[in-house]
Amino acid sequence: MTQRITKAVIPAAGLGTRFLPATKAMPKEMLPVVDKPAIQYVVEEAVRAGLTDVLMITGRNKNALENHFDRVTELEYTLEAKGDTAKLQKVNESTDLADMHYVRQGDPRGLGHAVLRARMHVNEQPFAVLLGDDIIDERDVLLTRMLEEQEKRDASIVALLEVDPESIHLYGAAAVEPTEEADVVRITGLVEKPAKEVAPSNYAVIGRYVLKPLVFDILEHTHPGKGGEIQLTDALMEMAGDVEGTGGVYGVVFRGRRYDTGDKLDYIKAVVQLAADRDDLGPEFKPWLAEYVAGFDRI
Ligand code: UTP
Repeated sequence: MTQRITKAVIPAAGLGTRFLPATKAMPKEMLPVVDKPAIQYVVEEAVRAGLTDVLMITGRNKNALENHFDRVTELEYTLEAKGDTAKLQKVNESTDLADMHYVRQGDPRGLGHAVLRARMHVNEQPFAVLLGDDIIDERDVLLTRMLEEQEKRDASIVALLEVDPESIHLYGAAAVEPTEEADVVRITGLVEKPAKEVAPSNYAVIGRYVLKPLVFDILEHTHPGKGGEIQLTDALMEMAGDVEGTGGVYGVVFRGRRYDTGDKLDYIKAVVQLAADRDDLGPEFKPWLAEYVAGFDRI
């Protein structure tokens, strides 16, 4: 019997070293993407998919994350007194979004270790994991599709994105077999950050997972892997094997828009793309951007 999934786990305890010094005193998940922290896009996505119970795995600088999803009475009071309902609504959006819970990771010993910290809260039911620095465009559906497949197959599901072979070394790469569904593949193997010569495919694992609770048992005995960290990929690899009771691992191939806000260049691209698409900013921003880019020819 499959159970309806209600819980989302968002690991946000990484050190964010690629973004120093911005992340010295602030988690990278709090970096603004136009006018909202990246993490708010991610929580909104979970809620859109019906997952309103959100557990965030936090690290040092956890206060900024907790405060963002909490009330700020002083600000509310001032805006109310001014009658500025539009801004007041913006302040309250993140407060009323979901039923938020927090757990500390302690030492950042890897994504697998962060997910294991969710065990007490999640218990014995399947759950979703959304990485706090990976944004899926709200116009494209991914998580709902993954939840459907989890329910149908009673398996664990990862999100896959076909990437340029030159970039596969930045991701976990999947060896796959086709299934009866055009956008679903069965995962037969996974390699964390492979060189392009040995990558089993160009299918990269991106930051959305729907996992069976069995993953916790596996993570308990998963040894540190690549980079000395406890890798979620290693636990998934074990689940993808022919071990009875795992249900296997399947990949939903995503062909929509995804923004990696943990990487500097991708972060800049995300801000530009999302700002250009906004009704309130796009009409002024796009002509300016076009003129700015046209200026490159003259340099
Ligand atoms: P990353 O590897 O992108 O995060 O982890 P990082 O280590 O913070 O980044 P850099 O390379 O130093 O810049 C992917 C996701 O897993 C979380 C991160 O917060 C991010 O959302 N994570 C990673 C944890 O929660 N705990 C960890 O121990 C490692």
